[in-house]
Amino acid sequence: MEQALLLQLKEQLLELSYLNATINMLGWDEQVYMPSRGSAIRAQSHAYLASLHHQKLLDLNTGQALDKLRERAASNGFDDETTALVREVGREYDRAQKLPASFVKALAEATSQGYSAWAVARKQNDFTSFQPYLEKIFDLKRQQADHLGYSESPYDALLDEYEPDCTAKEIDILFQQLKTFLIPLLQEIRRSKVTIDPALLSGIFTVDHQLAFNRRLAASLGFDYDAGRLDESPHPFTAPIHSDDVRITTRYDEQNIQYSLFSTIHEVGHALYEQGLPSDRFGTPLGQTGSLGLHESQSILWEKPVGRGLPFWQYLYPELQQAFPESLQGLPLSTFYQIINKVEPSLIRTEADEVTYVLHIILRFELERAVIEGSLTVKELPAAWSQKMSEYLGIDVPSDQLGVLQDVHWSTGAIGYFPTYALGNLYALQLYKAAERSIPGLTEMLSRGEFQPLLQWLREAVHVHGRRFSTKEILLQATGKAPSSQDFIEYITEKYTTIYQLDSKTSDV
Ligand code: CO
Repeated sequence: MEQALLLQLKEQLLELSYLNATINMLGWDEQVYMPSRGSAIRAQSHAYLASLHHQKLLDLNTGQALDKLRERAASNGFDDETTALVREVGREYDRAQKLPASFVKALAEATSQGYSAWAVARKQNDFTSFQPYLEKIFDLKRQQADHLGYSESPYDALLDEYEPDCTAKEIDILFQQLKTFLIPLLQEIRRSKVTIDPALLSGIFTVDHQLAFNRRLAASLGFDYDAGRLDESPHPFTAPIHSDDVRITTRYDEQNIQYSLFSTIHEVGHALYEQGLPSDRFGTPLGQTGSLGLHESQSILWEKPVGRGLPFWQYLYPELQQAFPESLQGLPLSTFYQIINKVEPSLIRTEADEVTYVLHIILRFELERAVIEGSLTVKELPAAWSQKMSEYLGIDVPSDQLGVLQDVHWSTGAIGYFPTYALGNLYALQLYKAAERSIPGLTEMLSRGEFQPLLQWLREAVHVHGRRFSTKEILLQATGKAPSSQDFIEYITEKYTTIYQLDSKTSDV
């Protein structure tokens, strides 16, 4: 009997996946091609498909079908793969089922209004006008946590949507270690006598040439154009439709070549994960990517330890110089490398360097957690933001526009999302160091533009599993340890001690 139920479940999951693929495809079109007047009908179509998806998700347990499969799984009646499938479907079903329809509707309305209010408030630098909307959203997210249930902190219930099996307490331990390391390091870097002038990397980088260069770059990293597209949008993103259809975007700035280069590498990292999923598991969680932190680790690994590394540019810089001879002919690789790794505390998270980026995330995590747990009010956010920016990065926040209003996340109800960006950085370095141990001569390979061995290692260590294992299990199998800050700290220390000559303070006097 369970076999028939299992077959039925897989058919229903396939329908859900077709809906998801369509929703993601429409989302991609919305940001890449849709004309401005198309937004109203697109919003309605999207809301309809999302409610259809929600209903079909709840239908999975019609006649207690899912309950019966979960009972069987609990008594070890299935093989590992089916057990994982039932576990992951059950998790998604529970989250959907625990939220009353009236609540889902209220949250959708509050975030839709919140998003519009945020866009205006940011433009006008007016936090007060956004405050009541944000209060409403935080209030609803606290209710959401109550509906979902939690043992220690309501924040854990929210985090579970993005990083399952992870708690605020665990994150806090990792983040305290990072703060203890990064804040003094940043002060040391600021005292360093090494000066890096980004103005040396200037000129006009025509979009046509950038486009051609980025297309080749994506292909050389392993992006498959027969199973994907690279387009342009103001905020680069990856739209997964199927492992045979992965859409990524990048952005071009004629004055600054760095935007497109690192956006492209980042999104290619996400895309390689999507293209590496087992297509024969499409329609089940085993054919889906894991937690947001794990997804981000795939983009960070290519963007940072690989794409901001010296070996990578030893390979690629001559080609970049050839593409932009007027701007780059006189700029040596060593200077280019320093510029793309310059550390400078700044106000905007998305423009932050490797050292300060994580501090931007820690600040957001601490603030949103405090509001959810009730030790901080929404009204107090701007002041608390400024205070932490000064404490962690040593800079003053001149306006809420450049402070608490800069990110879209809270206005859309994405609370508990930010820490996954920092976890992605930690996982990335943990995986990269493990790859270095497993692939002899990896650094030399990168300097020759041979990326296939690293990609193959990631395919086997991460991509092929889908959601068969949790993120913690994948990391344990691939790196031999639980999520840790150690590899990230070692990487940052080694790289920036060299760039800023932190060990040789007297040598350049
Ligand atoms: Co990303």
